[in-house]
Amino acid sequence: MDQIIVQGGKSLSGEITVSGAKNAALPAMASVLLGDGDYELSNIPRVVDIHTMAELLRRLGVQAEWSAEQANRLALTVRGVQSCEAPYELVKTMRASILVLGPLLARWGRANVSLPGGCAIGARPVDLHLMGLQKMGAEIGIAHGYIEAKATRLKGATILFDQPTVTGTENLMMAATLAQGTTVLDNAACEPEVADLAACLIRRGARISGAGTRRVVIEGIERLTDGLHQHEVIPDRIEAGTYLVAGAITRGRLTVGNCRPSHMQAVIQKLQAAGAEMREEADRVVIDGPSRPTAVDAETAPYPGFPTDMQAQFMALMAVAKGQSVISELVFEQRLTHVAELQRMGARIQVQGVHAKIQGVERLSGAPVMASDLRASAGLVLAALVAEGESRIQRIYHLDRGYERMVEKLRGVGAVIERVSGDRAGAGRAAS
Ligand code: EPZ
Repeated sequence: MDQIIVQGGKSLSGEITVSGAKNAALPAMASVLLGDGDYELSNIPRVVDIHTMAELLRRLGVQAEWSAEQANRLALTVRGVQSCEAPYELVKTMRASILVLGPLLARWGRANVSLPGGCAIGARPVDLHLMGLQKMGAEIGIAHGYIEAKATRLKGATILFDQPTVTGTENLMMAATLAQGTTVLDNAACEPEVADLAACLIRRGARISGAGTRRVVIEGIERLTDGLHQHEVIPDRIEAGTYLVAGAITRGRLTVGNCRPSHMQAVIQKLQAAGAEMREEADRVVIDGPSRPTAVDAETAPYPGFPTDMQAQFMALMAVAKGQSVISELVFEQRLTHVAELQRMGARIQVQGVHAKIQGVERLSGAPVMASDLRASAGLVLAALVAEGESRIQRIYHLDRGYERMVEKLRGVGAVIERVSGDRAGAGRAAS
């Protein structure tokens, strides 16, 4: 398996360009199932999760091809579907496959989607997705690990989520576009990716208001408009936040370009509180990292709160901060697996339930570490950038799921970082 090798201690400087948001691209891709047509989705990051969703859509009968002219453009053609089944072999590698459930049910009246199962960060149930669809009149059964759903025509309903769910809001918003009557989603997720999906659907004739707020209202219509539909997904606010932390942790001066500062306020404010100088412009943020960050507490929360997807990255920064901080993971029940790996690098962290108490140290030491989930891997890369000596990060297939060309982007601003393939990776210290 490939590894990433980092020689720590270099301050980063220059500009990093952010790719499109994986978590906006995935629902936009699933939404093509809502009606026949030709679709051009641009600013799509070439990451593993996107390839998995493209493969899933192909299994359902959608043509999905990367544009020859534009590297990050995906062309999709829908002329009916050949199947309504999302198989376990694909769903187990990417939970977001659940996003085909709503569109298949709304447009084609049936769907067999494998239950995603748990993952490294928690049980990740989909009960809220199913509750909403049942309220809209779907018949939902669970058999042999699959969700078997049927509906002649979904009906509008008022659905109250007992907690905000991003893909749950997206799934039900897509299902409601073709339902009979009005659907209200209360306590909906407000993430920018939800609003981006709504913009994509509205462009195709959907009647949606309130997307991006806690209350979304969808007037069902018979069918979406035909023709060529084009949509450019928003920049990835989590990738952008990750590179801002890279600037902060290496005491560098980084410009993070092609991003939306308005989507990143919680992270920007946290970094300012930690002592970083931040300058926001229309589509970029400039960060001047502090000589040594100040310890700042953080609690993850649904948007617009501090994102759970930035928790591991911020913990890496607090590991070298001056003072003690507490980081609380309040969204997922087990998203602290990166703590053990950071401790291997010399971080002083105590976990009590969902709280991590961090006593900042002057410096971390490079070490071989293991990635466990997409964002934990990013946190380990950030820690390696500032650790003394060499770090080898294993299982970086996690990173490949959501970060486009991370090694090249970091090397482009001065990081001493390389990716080594499986056989060379095995050499380890013995050969160095
Ligand atoms: C989305 O996952 C993102 N994925 C995640 O990003 C992100 O961490 C998460 O939202 C929170 O922001 C995509 O958008 C593809 P949730 P999602 O439903 O929708 C509980 C990444 O790194 N819940 O908002 O699966 C759930 O267990 C990924 O790109 C239920 O109990 O998350 C969790 O505690 C990782 N029942 C909380 O809600 C449900 O039916 C929030 O989960 C659904 C969710």
